[in-house]
Amino acid sequence: MMTTPFDVVAVRGDFPVLGRKIYGKDLVYLDSAASAQKPSQVLDAQRAFDATTYSNIHRGVHRLSQDATVAYEAARKKIAAFLGAPSEHEIVLTSGTTEAINLVTQSWGRSTLGPDDEVVITWMEHHSNIVPWQLVAEQTGCTLRVVPIDDRGELDLDAARKLIGPRTRMVAFAHVSNALGTINPVSELVALAKAHGALTLLDGAQAVPHVKVDVAALGCDFYAFSGHKLFGPSGTGALWGRRKLLDSMPPWKGGGDMILSVSFDGTRYNSVPHKFEAGTPNISGIVGLGAAIDYLGGLDLDAAFAHEEALVHHATESLLALGKIRIIGTAKNKASVVSFVTEGIHPHDMGTILDQEGVAVRAGHHCAQPVMESFGIPATTRASFAFYNTHDDVDRLVTAVRTALEIFG
Ligand code: ALA
Repeated sequence: MMTTPFDVVAVRGDFPVLGRKIYGKDLVYLDSAASAQKPSQVLDAQRAFDATTYSNIHRGVHRLSQDATVAYEAARKKIAAFLGAPSEHEIVLTSGTTEAINLVTQSWGRSTLGPDDEVVITWMEHHSNIVPWQLVAEQTGCTLRVVPIDDRGELDLDAARKLIGPRTRMVAFAHVSNALGTINPVSELVALAKAHGALTLLDGAQAVPHVKVDVAALGCDFYAFSGHKLFGPSGTGALWGRRKLLDSMPPWKGGGDMILSVSFDGTRYNSVPHKFEAGTPNISGIVGLGAAIDYLGGLDLDAAFAHEEALVHHATESLLALGKIRIIGTAKNKASVVSFVTEGIHPHDMGTILDQEGVAVRAGHHCAQPVMESFGIPATTRASFAFYNTHDDVDRLVTAVRTALEIFG
């Protein structure tokens, strides 16, 4: 695809933290898959909201509360448009992907699944798309089936064809793997699920910052993502679900705002999405997430994603050229992550040496222990990129890795 060059210098100016020094060196931030940095536009929007408009939402007759409600609901509309959702009523605001998936497991799963039913997930899931299903399996007696991955970190689709069958009620999988960067074949998996009348849930936490998402085109039934991976505040996120499904699902958390009326003779629940939004949410955080989506709307995302692809390519080639490096996750379709191991250096030691050089990466199992198990390793060092990274960042990473290799001989 032809794209215009991406103006990374201009974009970096929007992210104040990128100007920070770490141990006297310019920060190289390669941990955006754990949490992305926020542009001034998001920081300013949140601060302005808190300074002028903050109040509780959906509750007050006073002007401030009405203004806060308008700002909060405007963010919901932006999220709906960003995901290609038909209506903002299908957007449940959550504290992030983890809460969104737990909502589905505890509401839909707990009320629907039984001992004859199966849920299919994959070996490359983040713990947040494993443990909630294990919990609901304990509660309902349903069985969890797991699609294996091959040595490139791609899903074994032949195995998926065998695992997804008439007992399958749900296929839940990462759109993009956080540990490997693999972009999964959504349309194949959605088609397999549909052929057996099963629903699909996509964990989009690592996808939304790197690929364009359109839930209508993807054909899934639920889509979850987190604000803090999308250059917005932590403690924010959303679940998109089809209206008919959300309408049919019971509440999973009780409290204020999710009811129409409460009495000891019986409580009546609010309509979707409010039925799933008990308690006071992260109001200014959600306003900040709306600002992050506005910010992304002002970028040339095709150019941004092409820039990221070039960074991943540059990092992969340069690390391999050092020798003694094994890249974990070499899928054909891959986004913004370079996970690697080195002979004789534990990833934690590697991460610590890189930190001393001002290079921030994540070292560990990345909340995806089954991925590590399937590669026979305890952990990796993971450099993850966003559009604000540069080729100089990649060179600083590679120089720091070379230093580590020298230190460990
Ligand atoms: N899920 C986040 C990561 O991949 C925390 O690092």
